[in-house]
Amino acid sequence: MARQIRFNAFDMNCVAHQSSGLWRHPDDQSARYKDLRYWTELAQLLERGRFDGIFIADVLGTYDVYGGSNEAAIRHGAQVPVADPLLVIPAMAYVTEHLGFGVTAGTAYEHPYPFARRMSTLDHLTNGRVGWNVVTGYLPSAARNMGHTDQLEHDDRYDHADEYLEVLYKLWEGSWEDDAVVRDRESGVFTDPAKVHEIGHAGKHFTVPGIHLSEPSLQRSPVIYQAGASSRGIGFAADNAEAIFVAASTKAVLKSTVTKIRDALEAAGRDRYSARIYTLLTIITDETSEKAQAKYEDYLSYASEEGALVFMSGWMGIDLSQYGLDEPIGNVKSNAIQSVVANFQEAAEDGSQWTVRDIARHGAIGGLGPFIVGSGKEIADQLQEWAEDTDVDGFNLAYAITPGTFEDVVTHVIPELQKRGAYPTEYTEGTLRHKLHGRGDRLPDEHRGARYRVGASVAS
Ligand SMILES: Cc1cc2nc3c(=O)[nH]c(=O)nc-3n(C[C@H](O)[C@H](O)[C@H](O)COP(=O)(O)O)c2cc1C
Repeated sequence: MARQIRFNAFDMNCVAHQSSGLWRHPDDQSARYKDLRYWTELAQLLERGRFDGIFIADVLGTYDVYGGSNEAAIRHGAQVPVADPLLVIPAMAYVTEHLGFGVTAGTAYEHPYPFARRMSTLDHLTNGRVGWNVVTGYLPSAARNMGHTDQLEHDDRYDHADEYLEVLYKLWEGSWEDDAVVRDRESGVFTDPAKVHEIGHAGKHFTVPGIHLSEPSLQRSPVIYQAGASSRGIGFAADNAEAIFVAASTKAVLKSTVTKIRDALEAAGRDRYSARIYTLLTIITDETSEKAQAKYEDYLSYASEEGALVFMSGWMGIDLSQYGLDEPIGNVKSNAIQSVVANFQEAAEDGSQWTVRDIARHGAIGGLGPFIVGSGKEIADQLQEWAEDTDVDGFNLAYAITPGTFEDVVTHVIPELQKRGAYPTEYTEGTLRHKLHGRGDRLPDEHRGARYRVGASVAS
């Protein structure tokens, strides 16, 4: 049987997401992000394409590293204005049956207590189809608007996130027993108080003595997604993640990242394949190679190099406006997304360096990930090759224009992959967790979160 390839769609509640300037394209509908029907139509399209899920990114600040201000970000619509990612999910869940929802929320600024309830609510309303992309943040502007002078140092952000998750696992896994809600009309008991437990958490950052406010949802803990690939980020993923998003500019970099992640999972006592890994990619496709190439040229004519550098500066934590366009990026140290910087440095395998211009061109369509252009058959060949050579499970597809890029993939690429037996034709029944891993609705016993279940022996 051919190796199975999976897709996730990458979007954000804003215009153009990662393809700066493309909002100007006449076929781009990203400016409809405020229209609920944009989201419901997209969800139905993705479900027709048997996508595992839609992954909605989020930031709580503006990209103000480039030029030392957010003026360029505001001018280009570079992820500002940006709306809340969670609120569009119930509508999408209402019009679909199987599509998963990976929603991004940061650990740095919101107290875990209300967040735990919001995620449980989403898990109830989606019938167990919600996932949470745990991010530690990278924009100093977000920290300032939350009353801090700057964000914590890179690794400290992950230490803080470790405790954040501990509180959440205690609430989701350890507070309510499965049969706590009895709804006994005779006795008038809705919930048996003996089966609802206070979590008694007192830690370095949080004190949460009480019970979770929500009754257990189908999955209890949402499926945990993660997208940081520094060594500290991989350690965090190995403890928590069930799906991992990576961004690698070349096949060699991807292969090494996938191997590092799978080794780390094993070192954490989990199966090498217990987290599904999706790599960022943009696909530009049409009926023929020539038409796809023409489409690419057309898209490129709308791309904004400055907008791309606004994003890259934010992700790298380096003001790229201070370099000449042909200057190479040397051995800089980042307090933002360390894996992004390492990626460019590692990708220069032949000893040549990525210049600022290379970075702008690379990022103009689809952001951090590479893009590939071709007919459905050519794309299918490349995807199979990438998956075989790197051991990645699937692709997190960014768009050049939306929903056009996703429509093209559904029309030209998915039928070809299905013909080759390399892509699902039907969904597995059940929750998102069960669809992804086929091991039931709840966290597996060897997962960190399972330690906090009622009656579990180690809760530390
Ligand atoms: C594909 C991808 C998507 C990401 N999406 C977001 C996001 O939506 N919001 C966010 O704050 N961080 C996002 N990040 C950043 C990370 O989740 C993480 O906080 C950051 O990568 C720092 O990790 P690292 O230095 O360990 O790589 C993303 C990273 C990658 C690679």
